[in-house]
Amino acid sequence: MNVLLTSKDIRMIHQTPFSFLFSGGMITNRRMHKGFERKDIFNMARMRRKKNIPLRMDACSAYWFPVPVANRGHWREACCMPPETPLYLELGCGKGGFAIETARRNPDICYVALEKEDSVILAAIEKAAAAGVTNLFFVWTDVILLKNFFDDGEVDRIYINFCDPWSRREKPKRRLTHRDYLQLYRHLLKEDGEIHFKTDDLKLFAFSLEEFAVSGFHLDKHTTDLHGSEWDSGNVRTEFEQKFTDRGVSICRIEARKSAMISK
Ligand SMILES: C[S@@+](CC[C@H](N)C(=O)[O-])C[C@H]1O[C@@H](n2cnc3c(N)ncnc32)[C@H](O)[C@@H]1O
Repeated sequence: MNVLLTSKDIRMIHQTPFSFLFSGGMITNRRMHKGFERKDIFNMARMRRKKNIPLRMDACSAYWFPVPVANRGHWREACCMPPETPLYLELGCGKGGFAIETARRNPDICYVALEKEDSVILAAIEKAAAAGVTNLFFVWTDVILLKNFFDDGEVDRIYINFCDPWSRREKPKRRLTHRDYLQLYRHLLKEDGEIHFKTDDLKLFAFSLEEFAVSGFHLDKHTTDLHGSEWDSGNVRTEFEQKFTDRGVSICRIEARKSAMISK
């Protein structure tokens, strides 16, 4: 679950020309990735072959970090924010509407939004650049690689909004709220760090409550009807949240706070 890049992986990624990463070369060039078994590593290097994506990403280079291993433990400094600035992550940010609006409302918080799909994160990055937010940065990566980019206790809050439910019976380990992922997040969160979770999927919500409970989190501000609840004031709707709401689907929401002991 916890995929760590070795120093050899990191050296290789850094020595690889950026245009090669963009061209998808690390996926397709067998010689280049001979010896690698963990194909997840390459998710961050994969990009559909749209001609103008590298140029468009380059044009917004102030808004995203490619393979930010050097930022591990130094995110505030890397984002030019004071050392006491809270650091909030969004996992699977999609087209970035939530991250951009939340960052705009809270200029004294440093936001880092992660997304694994190339064209999706490009849309988010371009939107953030157009909005001119200065406290939001993007990382094009798979969540499974988080530990390479964030140090233990470095993160104050994590948002997981409308993650894929992976509803087929054999796939629950892929859910971003599976206990294996929660253990990973638990390490990165500071002592009383929080995870804010929203979903339209009642089964995923029930599953996630159990996973949080056995993974050392206290649950708070729980609702299966966010927009009809007291927690709606100040709520920023994500793109998926708006889509589900337009179809009349209720939104579930929970805050999970890291506790000192893991209760079994
Ligand atoms: C259902 S969409 C929700 C997008 C957005 N959070 C929203 O609420 O509008 C889930 C997003 O998470 C991304 N995602 C899923 N698994 C991921 C992973 N392991 N690492 C990074 N991103 C992931 C997907 O590419 C997709 O853009």
